[in-house]
Amino acid sequence: MVEGGLYGSVAQRRLQAGALESLEATRRTPGAVFAARMSGTEDPERFGWDRISAILRAEGAMTFRMIAAGACPEVERRLAALGFAVAWWDVFEGSRDEVAVACDGVLAAPRNDVAPLVPFPGDEAEFLARVQAFMAEGGVAPFPAQVLSGETGAAALAVLGDARDGSMVATAFAHFPYNRHSPHRATAWAGLATVREDFRGRGIGVWVNALALRRAVIDLRAERAQEFARKSNAASRRMIERCGLRLRPDLLSGIAQPLGSASFTR
Ligand SMILES: CC(C)(COP(=O)(O)OP(=O)(O)OC[C@H]1O[C@@H](n2cnc3c(N)ncnc32)[C@H](O)[C@@H]1OP(=O)(O)O)[C@@H](O)C(=O)NCCC(=O)NCCS
Repeated sequence: MVEGGLYGSVAQRRLQAGALESLEATRRTPGAVFAARMSGTEDPERFGWDRISAILRAEGAMTFRMIAAGACPEVERRLAALGFAVAWWDVFEGSRDEVAVACDGVLAAPRNDVAPLVPFPGDEAEFLARVQAFMAEGGVAPFPAQVLSGETGAAALAVLGDARDGSMVATAFAHFPYNRHSPHRATAWAGLATVREDFRGRGIGVWVNALALRRAVIDLRAERAQEFARKSNAASRRMIERCGLRLRPDLLSGIAQPLGSASFTR
């Protein structure tokens, strides 16, 4: 089993190890999604409910991405029959141009309170472990270090530090979870936006998210970008919209867990 680079409880690490170990299969299987924190599907019918049921039994959680809103009740019904409930996040999306224009606008206003943080050569593992701990502290379930570093595929990690003392104050991340069979194959997913509590409400969330998104659509040539947010997370929704993404009311993304479980992430 993969062990290095994972983060969180035994159950979270087991899910991350499962996602990493099945990466190659995920890349070639129609309907599969590389969600980093756990196994995933963007098309339950194509992926197959037998496979979904086996994953849920073996791993205890799974993500359902970009599900048509009209199909969600059927997904919920089938999951309930397996003893699972799904928590849904709203989907926001933007084209490369929309995202690039909005992010350039955000980043045009210089900041002197924060500065990009990068690892010293040879210190990547320790740096990524600090990034994971920082995200978890903000209530965001981190990704394995192998994903944050770009080892598993093109990725953009943005980390900001306090300009006075270099301590970590903000993170955001983007990568490509969908495979070549997917209508979303050229879409980057962005997330893991976390701002240290004493730095919130000053525009740093928008700034760090814009850094990761801009790298995804300009440097990594994503045609579109997407992010997910709960209805209750007003700051996250506004941050996402400020970066040029718009609500897709026709789609939802969610995480299925055993009935009665605590929420997996923000
Ligand atoms: C979400 C988060 C990253 C936002 O970071 P932030 O630095 O506080 O946000 P910003 O200051 O950049 O503000 C973003 C926008 O949200 C608005 N906003 C900020 N806090 C808000 C709140 N509590 N309620 C409503 N709107 C809020 C801001 O006014 C701003 O909109 P505006 O530019 O139109 O004025 C931060 O709150 C956080 O770390 N939360 C915990 C982790 C989390 O939920 N991550 C997102 C997972 S999807």
